[in-house]
Parts: sequence; C-alpha cells; structure tokens
Amino acid sequence: MVLKKWDLLCVILRNETRVVSPTPHEYTRPSTAWLLILTKSPMRAVVITRYGGPEVLDVREIEPPSPGPREVLIRVRASALNRADILQRMGRYPAPPDVAKDVSGIEFAGEVAAIGAGCSLWSSGDRVMGLVSGGAHADFVVVNEATLLRIPAGWTWAEAAAAPEAFITAYDALVTQAGLRSGETVLIHAVGSGVGLAATQLVRSWGGIPYGTSRTGQKIVAAVSRGLVDGVAVTSDIAAVVTSARRWTSGRGVDIVLDLVGGHYVAVSIDALARMGRLLLVGTIGGPRATIELGRVLAKRLTIRGTVLRSRSLEEKVLVTRAFEGDVMPRFANGDLKPDIDSVYPISAIADAHRRMESNASCGKVVLLMD
Ligand SMILES: NC(=O)c1ccc[n+]([C@@H]2O[C@H](COP(=O)([O-])OP(=O)(O)OC[C@H]3O[C@@H](n4cnc5c(N)ncnc54)[C@H](OP(=O)(O)O)[C@@H]3O)[C@@H](O)[C@H]2O)c1
Repeated sequence: MVLKKWDLLCVILRNETRVVSPTPHEYTRPSTAWLLILTKSPMRAVVITRYGGPEVLDVREIEPPSPGPREVLIRVRASALNRADILQRMGRYPAPPDVAKDVSGIEFAGEVAAIGAGCSLWSSGDRVMGLVSGGAHADFVVVNEATLLRIPAGWTWAEAAAAPEAFITAYDALVTQAGLRSGETVLIHAVGSGVGLAATQLVRSWGGIPYGTSRTGQKIVAAVSRGLVDGVAVTSDIAAVVTSARRWTSGRGVDIVLDLVGGHYVAVSIDALARMGRLLLVGTIGGPRATIELGRVLAKRLTIRGTVLRSRSLEEKVLVTRAFEGDVMPRFANGDLKPDIDSVYPISAIADAHRRMESNASCGKVVLLMD
C-alpha cells in the first residue's frame, strides 16, 4: 500500500500518545520519553501570507500539530468557510493566542488519527466534527477531546463540515441564551446565511415560528423549504420589516430577533420586538455601529444580548458542546435537522471559496474538501 506523506504522522510525542496510520498498525509509545515517530512529514494548510483579498491565500506545507494531554489529533477530511476566516484574511479578526495566527479554519470534520495522554473519550478512526479557534483548513488539527461530536451515521464529510459552526451558533444563541420556547415567534435576519438556515430549522424543531429577512428573494424561498413561515426581501425601505413583523404577530411584535447583520438592522430589530422581547446580536456584517432609541428598549423591557463563540474559554466550549450533543445531535440522527450546503470546493480552490462567500450569493454553507 502506498501512503501519502501526511498519512504517516510526523510528530514528536510525549507520554502515551498513540499514533495511527491508515494501515491497521497502531503504535503505543512509552510514557517516559519524547520520541520521534516515523518520518518528519509536513501537512497542507491554507496560509494567510499577508492581509488582503483572496489572492493572499496559499496552500503550503507546514509542520503538523501534535496532541498534548486530553487532546486528539484529527485528520481533517472537510471543513467549511466562515466570515471569521474572511475577516482574519483581511487582518480585521486576529486569531486567539492559542492557535497559529496565519492558518484559517474554525470548523472541521474528520477522523481521529492520534490520541494524547489521558484521553478516554475517543478511539482511532472515530468520525468526528467540531469547532476550533483556528487552523482547521489543514490536513491535521488538534482539539480537546471534550469538544468533539460524533458524526451522525450516513453523513458525508461535506455534510459534517457544514454543521458545527452554523448549528452550534444558532442553538447556543436561540435555545441556551434566548431561552426559546414552543410557540414563540423568531425573526432571523440574513435568513439564507449558513447560520440563518440552521436557525430556521432549529426554531421549527423547538416548536417556534420562524420568520426571516434577506436582501435576496431566492434565499427566502430556500428558507421556506427549511420551515420558514414567511419572510421579507429587504429593499431600501428597511422599515417594511417592522410592518411585516407586526402583521405576522397581530400587532404584538416577535418574541426573539436573531440579528446576524447588526448595523442599521439593530434599530429595526428593536422596533420589531414584542414587550419583554429578546434581541440576540450574533453578527455585525451590516456594520459595527447602530443608533437606537433607548426609550423603546426601556418601554418594552427588552433584553439585548451579544454573543461570540470563538473567544470563549475551553470550559465554556465544553459546556456548549455537551449541551449541543444532548439537545441537537438526536435531531440530526432522526433527520429532523440537516446541514445546508451551498457549494463545495477543493482546498486548492480556497480563494474561489472566499470569493463565493464574499459575493453574498451563497445560501447555506461553503464547504472545503481536503482531497
Ligand atoms: N457570534 C458568533 O459566534 C458567530 C458565529 C458564526 C457567524 N456569526 C455571524 O453570523 C452572520 C452569518 O454568518 P454566516 O457564516 O452564516 O454568513 P453567510 O453564510 O456568509 O451569510 C451572510 C449573509 O448576510 C447577508 N449580508 C451580507 N452583508 C449584508 C449587509 N451589509 N446587510 C444585510 N445583509 C447582509 C448576505 O445575504 P443576503 O442575500 O440575505 O443579503 C450574506 O449572504 C455573520 O455576521 C457572521 O459574522 C457570528
């Protein structure tokens, strides 16, 4: 059997890390020494060579990471693109200090390739997916074992790569933070986005009533196929969103707004909410500043909450993952929820994938395949 060079892991290992090749061999190493296993073999990774447009991205060979205690080395089979990757490429969203600053990628699907000391949850070859703070657009990534999720049976690598960021973000915002209850109305801005389509499905699955906005009428149609009850194609008259929200709710306003846009949408979100409504601000793609009528926030006794996943502590990420595992994974398994893929690119076409997302034409997730 001929192995690709990244199939034979090249890591300096500590303690009882086990290294697995695609052959049936598994190497268990003594706990006392640092050992150089096999050959020193680089891996491919998407490197941000400098800040700028998609042309600054290059697939290069770099040293693979090695798993520390309680960490697992994943052979990445697929990943997906996020706005965070685009902002990082532009120099507007630096990676946290614990990851390489110039390798993009915050979600992945792949198989367990090596297990660090003290790991007990996973075995070599397990098909897993999850989030990382960076570095997932590469052949290998290292992840704390408690932040991994098992890929549902029958899913392709592309489907698994399309799930973590969109669904965990939507679930954490709507269910954990906004406390979504059955029968509640939810307005989702940019409903055709990766997070927006996941949120639409989640609201339906929780017994809520999802409405949405998009600047692209076709994306409303796509979201309706995922359970959206109605939507507004936003034109220059953004106030029409408030009129629609009142019409949908017999004048009451919606219970929750999942605001993935920010900017001047925030004032609309506040006007569209019912008394005691909750505004979850998840994105600022429409602009980092907003002017709002504070009196309306007081009078309606609104809750406004901002959220971000990437910069949370490991402990917080473990909590989110475990809650998601219990609440959402069974709904993937029974087919109630499923990832929405807009397009699939090989990793060699990473610049084209960025262009697709930046064009705002994508509806659902832009997926990257490593092979
Ligand atoms: N806080 C977190 O942890 C977290 C995690 C993930 C994502 N996010 C944020 O959530 C949002 C959605 O992310 P995603 O990955 O799902 O994005 P996406 O799939 O790339 O979709 C974003 C969509 O937003 C709409 N849009 C773009 N610029 C806009 C503008 N100026 N005004 C109004 N709409 C605009 C476009 O669709 P239309 O055709 O509808 O205009 C675009 O396709 C982003 O803001 C992202 O940064 C936050």
